Amino acid sequence: MSEDKNLKSFAGAGEKEFDNSLRPRELGEFIGQASLKKKLDICLRAAGGREQPLDHLLFHGPPGLGKTTLAYIMAKEMGVNIRCTSGPALDKVGDLAAILSSFSPGDVFFIDEIHRLKASVEEALYPAMEDFRLDIIIGEGPSAKTMQLPLPKFTLIGATTRSGSLGGALRDRFGIVERIGLYPPEELSLIIERSAAILAVRIEKDACFLIASRSRGTPRIANRLLRRVRDWAQVQGHDIVSAAAADEALAVFGVDKNGLCEMDRKLLTVLIKNYNGGPAGLKTLEAALGEEADTISDVYEPYLIQEGYIERTKTGRLATMKARKKLGISKNSDDELF
Ligand SMILES: Nc1ncnc2c1ncn2[C@@H]1O[C@H](COP(=O)(O)OP(=O)(O)OP(=O)(O)O)[C@@H](O)[C@H]1O
Ligand SMILES: [Mg+2]
Repeated sequence: MSEDKNLKSFAGAGEKEFDNSLRPRELGEFIGQASLKKKLDICLRAAGGREQPLDHLLFHGPPGLGKTTLAYIMAKEMGVNIRCTSGPALDKVGDLAAILSSFSPGDVFFIDEIHRLKASVEEALYPAMEDFRLDIIIGEGPSAKTMQLPLPKFTLIGATTRSGSLGGALRDRFGIVERIGLYPPEELSLIIERSAAILAVRIEKDACFLIASRSRGTPRIANRLLRRVRDWAQVQGHDIVSAAAADEALAVFGVDKNGLCEMDRKLLTVLIKNYNGGPAGLKTLEAALGEEADTISDVYEPYLIQEGYIERTKTGRLATMKARKKLGISKNSDDELF
């Protein structure tokens, strides 16, 4: 696995187990996102007080920020079961009927990547969400009949990295729509301290903060970098990870002082050197970088935009002066250094 793939925020196979082992189980354990937690807590208490299922919830935001974690937490806090699937896996309306009719009242149905639902399944979800029934068509042609299948009351929790791809009709049926944003280093540092305690890694606070400030605002990356630093410290024979050791370890793994990885630097270099700073379209970058457009826009760009290295404009991506300075390339010359 190349280092870029290693830093990519989508979870791979072993990564999922790792994610699970570090996943907070209760709202109180979920670090940061104070205003979001406050709102969720109110929803939980209100629904609990009325002894009704939670309103349908949609979480959107870049990968690795805690959408799946929150879905599990909401189910646990409500004391109900959770059943998980993903948009592309939910192939037929019949699958939906089989899953939903097996629920107990109040159970949570979690659909990851909900923007990738098939149109027919999405349409079947509308009455299921609104009136807790499925309209099933039996037969074909003029003799086809619609049968209504009543469902237990359930809560749908959807997660998506691209809320823009979600149709308005589906989006409007969620009572609560919340964006999860990138985390500041102070919060990521607490997440790293918590993970280090679970993994029994002895690490100084300064080292946690250093790793946090290079984790692209993303808990999953923070946990992953902690794991890399732990491996490095172990091989080097350090009992306690200091900030200096963390710095050295991250340099070995290609994470620079601003938290940029090889792919970030490649993206900025291509934009500045090949396209004179842009604007360059996403498809152009996809071809130039050999990386999927979705991955570029969902995984790499949010942090580069937040940190002011690139701008998204109507005509394409633009490299900022900060990006040029970072790479030491001035506006008028390809190789003139600042
Ligand atoms: N607020 C948090 N506090 C502590 N740990 C967190 C927090 N948010 C996320 N994590 C950790 O980050 C990892 C990734 O979180 P999660 O899988 O919920 O992200 P996601 O938003 O569902 O990502 P994806 O879009 O890729 O599915 C989890 O293992 C969890 O341990
Ligand atoms: Mg997830």
